[in-house]
Amino acid sequence: MAADFHPTILRLETIDSTNLEAIRQAKVGAKEGLCIVAREQTAGRGRLDRTWQSPKDAGLYLSLVLRPAIGMNSWPLLSLTSALAVSDALVRVCSLKPDIKWPNDVCVNDRKLCGILAETIETPAGPAAIVGIGVNLKRMALPDVLRQTATSIEEVTGSEPDTERVLSEVLRAFGERYDVLQSSDGFEHTIREWCASSSYAYERRVRVSLENETFTAVTRGLDRDGALRVETDDGQIRIVRAGDVTALRAQAE
Ligand code: BTN
Repeated sequence: MAADFHPTILRLETIDSTNLEAIRQAKVGAKEGLCIVAREQTAGRGRLDRTWQSPKDAGLYLSLVLRPAIGMNSWPLLSLTSALAVSDALVRVCSLKPDIKWPNDVCVNDRKLCGILAETIETPAGPAAIVGIGVNLKRMALPDVLRQTATSIEEVTGSEPDTERVLSEVLRAFGERYDVLQSSDGFEHTIREWCASSSYAYERRVRVSLENETFTAVTRGLDRDGALRVETDDGQIRIVRAGDVTALRAQAE
C-alpha cells in the first residue's frame, strides 16, 4: 500500500502541552500530519483529566493533527491504532514485547511505558483529531509514586534509548497503521490486530471504573468502534467507552 501519511515535525523546547499546541494550530488551519514534539511539557495532560509529568528530555512528548477520512463514529479507533503503532515501534527499536491495556496504554512487564490522549475538536476546516503520545524514555520520567505501576525504556532495556530513533519509528509505524485504518476492511483489521496484541481483549478479569460506578467483570473482546465488551458477574454484557480498566488477579477483588 502506498504511504499516504506524511508528518511535518515542529520541534519546541518547552510548551504547556503538545496536545494543547496541536489544538491551537489545528484551529488556525494546521493540516493533517502536523506533529508537535517538545523536549518538555509544563502542563502535560493525561486521560480522565490527569496530569502527565514531562521533565525535560525524559520522555518523548508528541501530538499529531489528524483529519481522518473515516466517519467520526469510528474515530475512537484512532486510539487503538496509535497504541498499535507505539507497540510496533518498541518492537523495532528495542525488541520489547509490549502489551496494550484497554484502550491505549502500552505496557511492558505489566507496567505502563506509554500513554495516549486522543481528542476530537472542531476547527474552521472541519473536525480534527489530536493524538498525543507520551513515551517514558528514561527513569527520571517517572515520579516516585508511579514507580510501581510505570516503567521506561531505560529501565526495561538497561540503556538510554536514542530519542530520535524512537520518534522516527513511532511516526513510521503510525503512518502504516493509519493508512491501514483508512483502507477497506481497515476497522476490522485494526480491531483484530489490537485483540492479538492485548492480553486484555478476552477472558481477563478486570475492575472497570466509570465516572460514577465501579464493578468487576470479564473482558469479551471489542465492539466495532473499539469499545470494550465485558461480562459482569450477573451475566450482563456491558460496553465500556470511557473510564479505567484494571486487571485483577484471581484472588485480588
Ligand atoms: C494517559 O495515559 O493518561 C495519556 C497520557 C498522554 C500524554 C501525552 S505526552 C504528549 C501529549 N501532550 C499531552 O499533554 N499529553 C500527551
